[in-house]
Amino acid sequence: MEQAQLNLGRQTISLPVIEGSENEKAIDISKLRAQTGYITLDNGYVNTGSCESAITFINGEEGILRYRGYAIEDVCQHTDFLETAYLVIYGELPTQEQYDRFRAEIADHYLLDEGAAEILRGFPRGTHPMAMLISCVSSLSAYYADNTKTETGRRTAIMRLMAKLPVIAAWAYRRLNGLPIIYPDASLGYAENFLNMMFQNPARPHKVDPDVIKALDLLLILHADHEQNCSTATVRMVGSSGVNLYAAIAGGICSLWGPLHGGANQAVIEMLGRIHQDGGDVQKYIELAKDKNSDFRLMGFGHRVYKNFDPRARIIKKYCDIVLAKMGIDDPLLAIARKLEEAALADEYFAARKLYPNVDFYSGIIYKAIGIPVDFFTPMFAIGRLPGWIGQWYELMHDAKLRIGRPRQIYQGPNLRSLVSKVSRRD
Ligand code: SDX
Repeated sequence: MEQAQLNLGRQTISLPVIEGSENEKAIDISKLRAQTGYITLDNGYVNTGSCESAITFINGEEGILRYRGYAIEDVCQHTDFLETAYLVIYGELPTQEQYDRFRAEIADHYLLDEGAAEILRGFPRGTHPMAMLISCVSSLSAYYADNTKTETGRRTAIMRLMAKLPVIAAWAYRRLNGLPIIYPDASLGYAENFLNMMFQNPARPHKVDPDVIKALDLLLILHADHEQNCSTATVRMVGSSGVNLYAAIAGGICSLWGPLHGGANQAVIEMLGRIHQDGGDVQKYIELAKDKNSDFRLMGFGHRVYKNFDPRARIIKKYCDIVLAKMGIDDPLLAIARKLEEAALADEYFAARKLYPNVDFYSGIIYKAIGIPVDFFTPMFAIGRLPGWIGQWYELMHDAKLRIGRPRQIYQGPNLRSLVSKVSRRD
């Protein structure tokens, strides 16, 4: 095994080098503190691997994304979201029999305990749906006492979550809009069932447009997993303490809500709308994004790992034209997005920092076209990312090296000092 030499002046030590199946290399520092008293420090974990995983491979320099060894382009072309979910969670594409059983088992768990559904009633109009998802998903551990320390309990909880997260999201939408809830329909496909629960009008029943179903299914596939991103790392951290799966997933949803992560898709559409309102002057906003005195960032641009095009952004950008043409929509925000991308990619600031459009830059154009309200874009990201969170947690639960996550720190506070209280006691 290759060794890395670390010279600390008075001491030189050897550290083993781990090599991945795609020839990535890591220095294993698990013995560093014991051997030297030193720890490492890496703000934002830019250079630090938290685990070994067999689920998703990303090559950020070349813009490569694979789920379980399959190129994302092939996964989008040859599977649907449920097949992708099965692949991400269990490691292999399902046979027809496995696929049918997976779909049937999810349908068996579609009904949400009415008590959990009641939670959604308690939120005021104008609540952000991510708050409702967080509350309702964490409440599932109260209604479904699945022991996720056992294999049976894990698999049941996985099916319940795959079934109920879309129900929770759709019912949050119906509650926030004063609409009667639409119950899930096991005869419909996964994406179609969600769209039906969101938009069905009991007074004038209608079939969901197949183009809309295909567009949503594609977006869900593209969001299914993305190795150790902020929300997935959160699910692993929470799960490492041995808590139930519902709590770990609720932690992931909390993290995803942030505008620097899953909340970016909503922020992109709001940014494009602001530029449109402001006369479409994209250069003004390019300059604003470069101005260190402004906190404005080009939302949907840049990525911790991709220093080339995000392959998901390429696929979504191409699909925007197809969806909007099929639906006869001429969205001025798409034209602004295109102009903004062109201007940014021609600008030295973005080129020097290797800032390219990421998955969030164009996804909102499609969500908008298929009728998803802007504040439901991030819940859509959560529904898509659920198999990835589950798969990564499931991999962690089966990892012989599983330990509770507990980073160290470098203390920069006051040294020892004697305590003199400044408060006169009234007790
Ligand atoms: C997702 O990790 C994942 O895999 C996430 C994700 C997934 O599938 O799970 O891919 C989904 O979260 C995509 C990212 C969505 N977020 C956004 O679109 C928000 C806008 N982008 C950024 O804020 C930023 O690019 C991040 C958060 C995505 C990445 O941040 P990093 O890696 O910490 O980079 P950084 O903030 O240190 O930026 C490096 C430089 C800085 O300039 P300098 O200090 O070197 O002069 O690039 C600049 C930044 O100011 N920069 C930007 C910018 N992004 C980075 N400047 C303007 N606009 C931007 N969008």
